[in-house]
Amino acid sequence: MSVLSDYAKRTPGSKEHFARVGAMIPAGATRSLNSWPPYPVYLDRGAGGTVWDVDGNAYRDFLANYTALPLGYADPDVTAAIREQLPHGTSHSFSRALEAELAELVVARVPSLERVRFTGSGTEAVMFALRLARAHTGRPLVAKAEGGYHGTTDDVMISVRPPADLAGDVRSPASVPEMRGIPASRTRETLVVPFNDVAASQEILRAHADRLAALVLEPVLGVGGMIPATAEYLTAMRATCDELGILLVFDEVITLRLAYGGAQQAYGVTPDLTTMGKIIGGGLPIGAYGGRADIMGLLEPRGGTDVYDSRSGGPALYQGGTFTGNALSLAAGIVTLGKLDAATIDALNRTGDLLRRELTGVFAAAAVDAVVTGVGSLFNIHVGPRRVEVFRDVRAVDAARQHAFFLGLLNHGVIVAPRGMGCVTTCTTGDDVAAFTAAVRLTLHDITEAG
Ligand SMILES: Cc1ncc(COP(=O)(O)O)c(C=O)c1O
Repeated sequence: MSVLSDYAKRTPGSKEHFARVGAMIPAGATRSLNSWPPYPVYLDRGAGGTVWDVDGNAYRDFLANYTALPLGYADPDVTAAIREQLPHGTSHSFSRALEAELAELVVARVPSLERVRFTGSGTEAVMFALRLARAHTGRPLVAKAEGGYHGTTDDVMISVRPPADLAGDVRSPASVPEMRGIPASRTRETLVVPFNDVAASQEILRAHADRLAALVLEPVLGVGGMIPATAEYLTAMRATCDELGILLVFDEVITLRLAYGGAQQAYGVTPDLTTMGKIIGGGLPIGAYGGRADIMGLLEPRGGTDVYDSRSGGPALYQGGTFTGNALSLAAGIVTLGKLDAATIDALNRTGDLLRRELTGVFAAAAVDAVVTGVGSLFNIHVGPRRVEVFRDVRAVDAARQHAFFLGLLNHGVIVAPRGMGCVTTCTTGDDVAAFTAAVRLTLHDITEAG
């Protein structure tokens, strides 16, 4: 049976729902990622490592809301903590004491965080961190890596997945807006460096140093293909930023899960500012940014009537967000981080190592061109390439086969991102790993059969 007809047979309820919701919500989903051809699967519920769709199909979920749920769905302790808060109100006009509890946990884990502020999302964390960097340095530009994803603001929706004909020279990449609607003026304010190329990145930073406020980097390119930075690259970028007075920002929205103190601890490189999200909210909306006390001090003014201070060089750097620091996200985050101790993170990483090894073995045995990238509890399956070492290697992905692979895995009861990315959680068992590899074998058979 072909992948598509099998998909259609299993998911008539999703198809029907798509027809209804597509009339109101563009592409039938509020999150662009959640819509794909011929129509997306709509979920009903999740528990542990399993989710069920509206047709009653069960899936082993290796995506866990894009790595945000390290304990899987509806962890009993997280659920209890949320329930405990409910009678006391879900969000409030003034701060709750819970804020300090989560701040203490985060600061205790990540050594570079002398101060921290919470936000509503990872996107906001990056937005505020870059504004802070500009305010601190008085410089107008920021730099990011080609292939780097940092949320959806204009500053960073640049060269995330740039097409080959626009991306420019490999050693001096162009700044390519990801979509229409991003002003050309903003695009010019974001420089793009080639990830893991020390000399070329240094050259770009040096050429613009007097106007460059910050370099923001993911220690592992996430959306860009789950490609880890080399230790040499991060160390060199740290030294170059120091030399040039540029702030180094690590975006650890995904990578915080890789070590107790985040990827920066694993690499032994200390950024000036760090952005976080996902796991620190235990499955509820959150973000955070923090770092050096002298930089974060720009957020110190107490506010009250003078929080908006538009005098040039005025003291106040304003941060807002109606739902920032809401009780449910804080409570879920406190429990989640409490459970993610160093031993648990080690175990997650070992499960991830096993999974990547097993998956690589399946592709090799089937003589299918595919690469499994990633590190620790993170992975990305790329269908088509023979190697994925630098970001531009991801271009060799065979988009049609990658999509068929994604649908085929769904047919066999496994969820990864459409681009092949995923993670393991504390719910992932050896049985899950075996089921995943079996599903890959079956899917490769289906795809090959269908040509
Ligand atoms: C590295 C990175 N930064 C920032 C973000 C944005 O976070 P959020 O989706 O919470 O806005 C993401 C989301 O996937 C991310 O992976």
